[in-house]
Amino acid sequence: MGYKVVIAGATGNVGREMLNILAERQFPVDELAVLASRRSLGTEVSFGDRTLKTQDIEQFDWTGWDMALFAIGSEATKIHAPKAARAGCVVIDNSSLYRYDPEVPLIVPEVNPQAVHGYAKKNIIANPNCSTAQMVVALKPLHDRSAIKRVVVSTYQSVSGAGKEGIDELWDQTKSIYNPTDDKPARKFTKQIAFNVIPHIDVFMEDGSTKEEWKMVAETKKIVDPSIKVTATCVRVPVFVGHSEAINIEFEEFLDEDEARDILREAPGVMVIDKREDGGYVTPIECVGDFATFISRIRQDSTIDNGLNLWCVSDNLRKGAALNAVQIAELLGREVLKKG
Ligand SMILES: NC(=O)c1ccc[n+]([C@@H]2O[C@H](COP(=O)([O-])OP(=O)(O)OC[C@H]3O[C@@H](n4cnc5c(N)ncnc54)[C@H](OP(=O)(O)O)[C@@H]3O)[C@@H](O)[C@H]2O)c1
Repeated sequence: MGYKVVIAGATGNVGREMLNILAERQFPVDELAVLASRRSLGTEVSFGDRTLKTQDIEQFDWTGWDMALFAIGSEATKIHAPKAARAGCVVIDNSSLYRYDPEVPLIVPEVNPQAVHGYAKKNIIANPNCSTAQMVVALKPLHDRSAIKRVVVSTYQSVSGAGKEGIDELWDQTKSIYNPTDDKPARKFTKQIAFNVIPHIDVFMEDGSTKEEWKMVAETKKIVDPSIKVTATCVRVPVFVGHSEAINIEFEEFLDEDEARDILREAPGVMVIDKREDGGYVTPIECVGDFATFISRIRQDSTIDNGLNLWCVSDNLRKGAALNAVQIAELLGREVLKKG
């Protein structure tokens, strides 16, 4: 016996990836409903060998469904997640709406799987921000060995993190550079993204940081340990898929780079590719379609007592969103619903 599963946002980048991953990982699905806005009514999406027709989320009856993986943005989630949850369907949400709600667990299965038992307060589980998810997979095993005091992270985030429109804007602007009569001004991003980088993701906060940067701070504390201090600079780069992060970590006690490399090699969800030679590291284009978070460039930071630097790359549509959501679904099935 399997699960009755709903994918909300099935026509989007994350929704389509969730369908691919459910099929790839042979998640025990008995019945599957694919939803999006009315605009996409009848649009076909693939699930393994099957083709499914998208339904209008407004008209959907949530009764009798076990779990719903949401990727429709905060505004639509605010309307539909409570309806699903009230009908007894557990929501696994990719938006930021519930991430900081103390009654909603925020889960990265490799890091805090025990939090799943808190799902019942609202029947909702939150999936973290893409940049946080890949970073905490790397931080947790190191933190278990030597407590982390402070993290300084700079991100290099792909345009797919801004949805379908982000991908289209990079594509159209890149083409228009070679065909100047076809000018494509910035719309989704605040400045030209083609052949450029933009140090601004999400809205500005009062202290001068952006909401994306604030999310990395707040979510790392909620998922790993509230005592870890994080300072982040989040940057959009002209890459289609795959987020990269340069992470500097300060520990309470000394952690040798070789030991850190060994710890990370054994860590769940992590793949270490770290040869100190030309090409001996992973770039975003190489991580596309993969499940792992790749760690390279592990090295001591000799400017502080107990410091390490590393380079962290992952497919933001997978570990940063769809894969993590499916892993939460697997965890929920295994630990709570126990049907599969
Ligand atoms: N991309 C990432 O790396 C990433 C990472 C973590 C979290 N997320 C989150 O995941 C969510 C989706 O992101 P995405 O990248 O997949 O965006 P996307 O490619 O733009 O897709 C958006 C999806 O939401 C649906 N949708 C929009 N408004 C809706 C409404 N009012 N009612 C029902 N469905 C609606 C769209 O349906 P139509 O096609 O009918 O418009 C589409 O299926 C967002 O909350 C985002 O913050 C994304």
